[in-house]
Amino acid sequence: MMSQAAARLPHTKHGEATIMKKLIFNTMILVFCCGVISSAFSEEVICFESRKGASEVTKHDLQPGLPNVKCSPKTGAVLWWGDPFDDTVPLGDMPLLGHISPDKAVVKPRSGKLTILPMCGVACHNGVGPAFIPPTLPKDKKPKPLPMMETLLPDAQNLQHGRGGIWCLDCHHTTQRNKLVDNFGDPVSFDQPQRLCGKCHGDKLRDWRDGIHGKRIGEWASNGKKRWFVCTECHNPHNVQDGARNKGFIQIEPELPPQLPKGMKNANHEHVHGISQPHHGASSQH
Ligand code: HEC
Ligand code: HEC
Ligand code: HEC
Repeated sequence: MMSQAAARLPHTKHGEATIMKKLIFNTMILVFCCGVISSAFSEEVICFESRKGASEVTKHDLQPGLPNVKCSPKTGAVLWWGDPFDDTVPLGDMPLLGHISPDKAVVKPRSGKLTILPMCGVACHNGVGPAFIPPTLPKDKKPKPLPMMETLLPDAQNLQHGRGGIWCLDCHHTTQRNKLVDNFGDPVSFDQPQRLCGKCHGDKLRDWRDGIHGKRIGEWASNGKKRWFVCTECHNPHNVQDGARNKGFIQIEPELPPQLPKGMKNANHEHVHGISQPHHGASSQH
């Protein structure tokens, strides 16, 4: 188009200047439009499901008009799921919890969210070297300085879990570093952290099984299919007892109150108790 237009114009000094101006102007428009278009396309919305920095999902359409998640513009947290079973796998064996129907309980695997994990079993610790010559295994589970790990994982500088009473190999398998460890020393997948946490927090594990602790989304009926959130989706195992608050959870600002239903001017009625208070006078003496 541009060359056709240029060909039609006479080759005078003035003509050339006009062409140049037009060219510059067109290029500028082109650059501007491309910028707008590409930013409209590349503007990824990423929000977190439960733990900021460790449970991120990228918003996309499952079908035209049906997003996988709706994200809060205020907190960046997921407010709603288009498909609660998106990216989930069966919960897997839970020897301590009795039979849980595999088609009713699904979880989102953790492995894909962990950035260092893929290196753990190969780069340095494959159990017997080869990074260490001669190959050595830790002699015990006691705390010791780990400069390399502290760089990779700042929480390891001052592990805030168990008040100094537990250390890495209480949770991580000695020879299979891409695995967690159960009470018998057997490897446990990072996708089943409940098998690890449950060995020390049995009460929480049972509450979790019963749906009293944690979170589930999915079919409403109590025997319906549900996605269970696993322990590490909410708890960072390396800082559950962080700092003065003695909690791993970062407080997030609450959402704004929802929009009032059409026609309602205020929500003052909510300040009035719907249920009448018991009369103290009835059974006791005044
Ligand atoms: C209470 C159990 C526990 C202790 C103690 C523990 N970890 Fe972990 N660690 C875990 C779990 C569980 C995960 C997976 C976390 C997740 O899914 O977000 C993990 C993840 C990791 C990862 C992978 C992180 C990533 O993003 O890929 C590294 C590396 C690691 N731990 C190193 C250590 C070191 C070093 C220590 C000791 C200073 C330690 N851990 C102590 C339970 C523990
Ligand atoms: C080897 C034993 C052990 C394992 C495994 C373990 N914990 Fe702990 N955990 C402890 C101890 C010990 C404490 C400290 C309890 C206290 O301070 O009273 C603790 C404390 C906690 C707390 C804080 C408790 C509180 O009262 O605020 C949380 C939350 C927690 N653990 C979650 C987890 C999760 C999630 C996992 C799995 C990733 C896990 N733990 C695995 C031993 C363990
Ligand atoms: C959906 C998120 C979620 C999941 C999943 C979850 N927890 Fe928790 N957990 C919490 C919250 C929130 C608290 C309260 C923390 C607080 O008070 O700051 C808590 C508290 C705890 C405590 C401290 C209890 C206390 O009495 O103060 C322990 C221990 C614990 N969880 C272990 C677990 C274990 C083990 C699992 C997996 C079997 C698990 N949690 C799964 C959110 C979760």
